[in-house]
Amino acid sequence: MSQKIRGVKGTRDVLPIDTYVKDEDPWVRIGHYDRVEQSARDLFPLYGYREARTPVLERTELFVRGIGEVTDIVGKEMYTFDDRGESVTMRPENTASLVRAYVEHNVNQQEPETKWWYLGPMFRRERQQRGRYRQFTQIGIEAFGSPGPRIDAEQIELLDRWLRTLGIPFEMHLNTLGDAACRPKYREALQAYLRSRASELCEDCRKRIEANPIRVLDCKNPKCQEVAAGAPRMEQFLCEPCQVHFLGVQEMLARLGVGFVLDPKLVRGLDYYTRTTYEAIATSGLGSQSTVAGGGRYDGLVKELGGPDIPGIGFAAGVERMALILTQQGKERVTRPLVFIAPLGDAEAVRADALAQQLRAAGLAAEVSFRKANPGNQLKRADALGARFALVLGEQELKTDRAKLKELKTGAQHEVSLSALPDEVRRLATAG
Ligand code: HAM
Repeated sequence: MSQKIRGVKGTRDVLPIDTYVKDEDPWVRIGHYDRVEQSARDLFPLYGYREARTPVLERTELFVRGIGEVTDIVGKEMYTFDDRGESVTMRPENTASLVRAYVEHNVNQQEPETKWWYLGPMFRRERQQRGRYRQFTQIGIEAFGSPGPRIDAEQIELLDRWLRTLGIPFEMHLNTLGDAACRPKYREALQAYLRSRASELCEDCRKRIEANPIRVLDCKNPKCQEVAAGAPRMEQFLCEPCQVHFLGVQEMLARLGVGFVLDPKLVRGLDYYTRTTYEAIATSGLGSQSTVAGGGRYDGLVKELGGPDIPGIGFAAGVERMALILTQQGKERVTRPLVFIAPLGDAEAVRADALAQQLRAAGLAAEVSFRKANPGNQLKRADALGARFALVLGEQELKTDRAKLKELKTGAQHEVSLSALPDEVRRLATAG
């Protein structure tokens, strides 16, 4: 036998087979992904979001300029390669790509406000652990053209509703990062403070003091956290418009009945944020990678990427993390074959195939047996598939056009006419 070929580290297969635990990280069934995705497809359009799809491959410059050169993502996590003289990158996130598309297609000239949602794989070369992968799936939204704060609160309410619908336990964290007018002053004050305590910081954070001091605030190292606890806070430096904006978001959330906690350490890992930032953090079901969704306002990004001065705000959620929580809760919606048809001979098999085709054409799930087995074993197979009804087709049934449809859970037998099978099944399925 030749050697097996394994999947690339940090990637995972999502299969329709049963969940099992491997290295503490349960494989997730496709049904959980489907629930997460379907609920977004149902909910997001109610808020006016329309789906947008952009390519996985983008010019590297887009992320360098968009996400920021000194971020972990751009600094060490991108899958970048030379495509015959042009540097391209497999998108590590989708906000920069959507902004690129928004600018490239002059969308602002067609509509003053734009709401887009997206779903797809993202790529970051991170250290693999539970809830953190090198290929992962994000579902997100972006809104362009609304300066807020009402849209900020509307997005947070959407995220809150979505996670509640799915039964994911979480806490909504909220912060503000100020804007170009007030953040530089805060940055300076923070740098001065961090320099004075540099010897207590981890190596990464010592480098961050000059390059990206705000990121020191969310370092996981306990010593850095101690230093961070005594650091000056953004709220002390907020300019008047930022303060008004932030209070506006909080007021709106209170009016909409959305709970949140103020979290000055919520600084996010991407450089484009201004003012509002928010994250939904799972309160159980995930280990250290407990942020289910995160986002915020990025009022300077459209301009930074060559477009007009138009504000934006959005969030992205990690589908794998959400599916992991649902896996642990054991909640899953699965489509099972409604009718399992087991033909006993060749002539019956021809009829079984035709009956299955008629059932499916009528929108009813059906599966036929491709194996030769006795009726007892066929019924066992129907049971294992989770079918609701089983129909064993023999010579007699073909001759009389009458057959017994067995309801597997109750054992009840319903006599049905084969030529009217779709109608008969629909009647029985809706009856009980
Ligand atoms: P982010 O915080 O980098 O933000 O990612 C958003 C979510 O994607 C995270 O909360 C997490 O659930 C999931 N995620 C990120 N990295 C991984 C990974 N390696 N493995 C599994 N899941 C992961 C953004 O990407 C921004 N574009 C969000 C945004 C949209 N801001 C404004 N608009």
